[in-house]
Amino acid sequence: MSNHPGLPRTPIVEHLDARLIGPGSAAVIEASELAALQTETGLDKHALILASLEWARRWARAPLSSFEVGAAALGESGRLYLGANIEFHGFPLSQTIHAEQSAIAHAWAHAETGLTVIATSAAPCGFCRQFMFELPEPRPQLLLADAPGGRPMSIESLLPSAFGPTQLGRSPQLLRAGPHGLQLIPHAQNAEHAEHAELTQLALAAANRSSAPYTGACAGVALETADGQRFAGAVAESVAYNPTLAPMQAALIAAHHGGQGVTLSSITHAVLVELEGATVSQLDFARQLLASVAPTASCSVALARA
Ligand code: THU
Ligand code: ZN
Repeated sequence: MSNHPGLPRTPIVEHLDARLIGPGSAAVIEASELAALQTETGLDKHALILASLEWARRWARAPLSSFEVGAAALGESGRLYLGANIEFHGFPLSQTIHAEQSAIAHAWAHAETGLTVIATSAAPCGFCRQFMFELPEPRPQLLLADAPGGRPMSIESLLPSAFGPTQLGRSPQLLRAGPHGLQLIPHAQNAEHAEHAELTQLALAAANRSSAPYTGACAGVALETADGQRFAGAVAESVAYNPTLAPMQAALIAAHHGGQGVTLSSITHAVLVELEGATVSQLDFARQLLASVAPTASCSVALARA
């Protein structure tokens, strides 16, 4: 049965309701499906995106708060990427992935280079407002489920007197960064990567699209699951530093929202590619986070240089 009192139970609504079941199914609504939803329900695009948040919330993993947040990011391609908050038992609260980050990183993992709308089921917190400020202008419109009148808002209007990328002399570049021209260094340390050569290339490709304007510490992670599915993600730095999304977090988002039958515990191996001699390293945190969701998974590192 549909969980969407606001949506008439048309065939496409029923179809999506049966398909968007949560982790283990892909959290994406195709452009053609959105168009069909519009035709069948007679609702406008914004109303449908807001309605899709009920589906997005199915991906929430909130063992600490039990507070499930859904977000949706409309890519320039017309695809709608759903995302939800992911909390990590045993970790500091500051390592929580917010729904907005999930939707954005999910879109990024599918090579979207621009977003036109971001919708959220809960008011976006200050951390998310700051994180979204890394998106280049024109930034996506925000649709808030509980906003009066349901009118879209600008990210800028929700972050007055912003501390933005220009404060550190940078331009916003999230989703559009790179390619950085990184190559793996031929080094003995990289020998173990013969075994995971393809996964390492995927991590390298992610690092090449990473957004690290503040430290230059480009980094990407690629994950493999027991049934051979692969997912990747890259670091997305914030000018305010703390809202930065780590590459392991980004890769876990891609796996959690993108997998056919994938659960995070089915990850068997990860490869981190990071910049040789960088001032910050992602390795320790990547290993800790991976171990918390997939205790038997291994994580290797390969260094790269430009
Ligand atoms: N949360 C989000 O995912 N987005 C927001 O902007 C509001 C807060 C999540 C984070 C945490 O998992 C839970 O809601 C409680 O704060
Ligand atoms: Zn937030």
